[in-house]
Formats: sequence, structure tokens, C-alpha cells
Amino acid sequence: MNLEQLNSQIQDLKTNLEKDLESASDIANISTKYLGKKGEFKKIAKEIKNIDAKSRGEAGKLLNQLKINLQKQLSQASNIQSPVSNIDLTIPGKKPAVGHMHPISQAMEEITHIFEQIGFTRVRYPEADWDWYAFEALNMPPSHPARDEWETFFIDIPDTTKEIVYDENNPRKRHPSKAGGKVVLTPHTSNGQVREMERLGKPPIRMINIARCYRRQQDATHTQMFHQFEGLVVDKGINIQHLKGTLDYFASEFYGLGTKSRIRPFHFQFTEPSFEVDFSCHICAGTGIKNGEKCKFCKSGWHEVGGAGMVHPNVLKAGGIDPEEYTGFAFGWGIERTYTLKEGLNIDDIRLIYGSDMRFLEQF
Ligand code: DAH
Repeated sequence: MNLEQLNSQIQDLKTNLEKDLESASDIANISTKYLGKKGEFKKIAKEIKNIDAKSRGEAGKLLNQLKINLQKQLSQASNIQSPVSNIDLTIPGKKPAVGHMHPISQAMEEITHIFEQIGFTRVRYPEADWDWYAFEALNMPPSHPARDEWETFFIDIPDTTKEIVYDENNPRKRHPSKAGGKVVLTPHTSNGQVREMERLGKPPIRMINIARCYRRQQDATHTQMFHQFEGLVVDKGINIQHLKGTLDYFASEFYGLGTKSRIRPFHFQFTEPSFEVDFSCHICAGTGIKNGEKCKFCKSGWHEVGGAGMVHPNVLKAGGIDPEEYTGFAFGWGIERTYTLKEGLNIDDIRLIYGSDMRFLEQF
């Protein structure tokens, strides 16, 4: 075979292809016919070995060009043909599944936003912290019976107390015998109180600390790991009215306009006076009656949520703040309960929240 013969074969192939394309038969079939393993192009390309050595380079170029043209032509043809023949544009599309944040993360974002609106700053502190911040600085010395309520996990690491050197200028080293010592998995977010006092050095303080907490508990309504948020405000002249106003503000922002807070006397070591905090039930508008019957959700018009109080002078002192000059309030409670209340959820088993059952999670 010589170049001329090759050229004429190429021309024939082109003419045939044109015809096939005009016949409007299936492009996929035409593609196989010309570019397939046993296709027309391969047949001609095989001939290259019969061309004399001098012209083989030229023949190679011709064949390359042919292949490129074929691919171009066929892909153009298929772009034009297939949409019209195969796609019905009137059929409604399928939405891709879109994920969303876990309900507890949603609640944390919302709580953060609500408090940021009134000048609080969200902070985070270690979830494995010194006993000092979790208990001692909060007016609970090592053998104090109030500690029992916190069912704490202690971490088994060597006591580093002796290595901490007292340093007036470094807040982390202001407590020579305390910073160091035992390490606990934080059983509440109150460890953030003295840490925040130390971080800022002096008031004003408006902190919202949201974190994971851990306690030795596990049943239908308790998990070993859960979440809390903790508010702390310290400044000159802070009193209970500020606390009550903040709680009412949170109630109506989070649960809806008209939801109110109620504080009842209680006892915590780190606040004096101390309170338990209730929110009015947003399902029955705090009346305890829904559709002429006792409200099934609250039974009394109120839900108990957490604790609060005026920061104990010993706690302020532990954070290096003069209680004669400054006062403060604090509050704290669980995110899981706060959130399920909002959704009007009576969850039989709180562990559902941390399971990965999509049927449950997709509802939020
Ligand atoms: N830390 C307490 C707990 O886990 C809740 C609490 C009570 C936080 C009173 C506070 C407070 O800030 O003032 O049960």
C-alpha cells in the first residue's frame, strides 16, 4: 500500500461516516462502528505496516488527524442528539439529600447567638481540668460532701502540684498549692468561672461557656457525657435583678415570646444566695392546662432546668477579684434538657440523641 491508497481509504471512511450520521441512527452504535476495537479506523490503521518506510511517518500523521476528527465529530453529534431523545425535561428533579447539624450542635449555636446579642463572649476551657477549677476554687474543698453530687471521673496521672511555682504575674500560677494536683473530666461547666476571671484579670466579665461534661451515670435519662452551658457576669453593682432579667431574656428568646423564668431558693457551694431555675411551659403558656386538661408536658406550668445564684465571695477571691468591690451572678444547666424541652419532646431514652439512628436525627 502507498500513501495515495491510504488517502483514498480515509476519504471513503469520511464519506461513509457522513452518511451514517445523516441517517440519524444511534450515535453510540456509530461510534463503535468507527472507533471501536474492530472498527473502521482500526482497520485502516493496521495498514500502516504495509506502507514503505519512507512514507510511514506521513501516514502516521494522517491517521492521527483522522482519529482526532472522528472523535470530535462523534462527540458533537452525540451532544446534539442525546438530550433531545432521552431526557424529559418536564419530570420533576430528584433533590440530593442534604445533611444538617446534629440537634445538640444546633442548640449550642442558638444559645451562643442569644447571649452574644447581649454582650456575652463564648469561651472554651479544657474538658480535662484540674480539681482546683472544677471544685476547690468553687468553694468545695477536697473532702466536702457537696462534691458527691457530681459523680466525678478522676484521671489517673501523677500529681504535678510541686512543680507549679507561685508567680504573681502569671494567673495560671497564682495558686501554688492548687493549680496542679488531681485532674478530673469536667463534671460541669462551672470550671470556666475561675478560669475566665484569671484570663481577663479583672471585670467586667460576661462569659458563656459551653462544653462537654462527664459524670459516672448511665440510665435512660442520663449519659456519661452530656453538655452544659454556663453564664457568668461580674462587675460593679451586679445584683439579682440582673440575673432574673437575663434568665427572662433567654426564656423568651429561646422558647418564644412570653416564656418566663422563676427562681426558687436552693443551695450550691459556689453561689450565695443560690436558686433553682424554672421556665414556664411554652406548650400551655405556663397555665398547666391544655385543652381543658392537665398539660401532659409539664403537669404544673413550669419546667425545672438548672441552677443559678450570686457568685460566692470565696469564688471571686479564688479568681483574684475583690468581693468588696465587685459582685456577680452565674447560672448553668444541661443543653440536652434545654433543647428537648423546646421541641416539646418527651424522650424516653436520652441515649437516642447520641445514637446514629437517622430516623431519629432526620426529624430535627
Ligand atoms: N454547676 C451546677 C451543676 O452542674 C449548675 C450551676 C448551679 C451552675 C449554680 C451555676 C450556678 O453557675 O450558679 O449542677
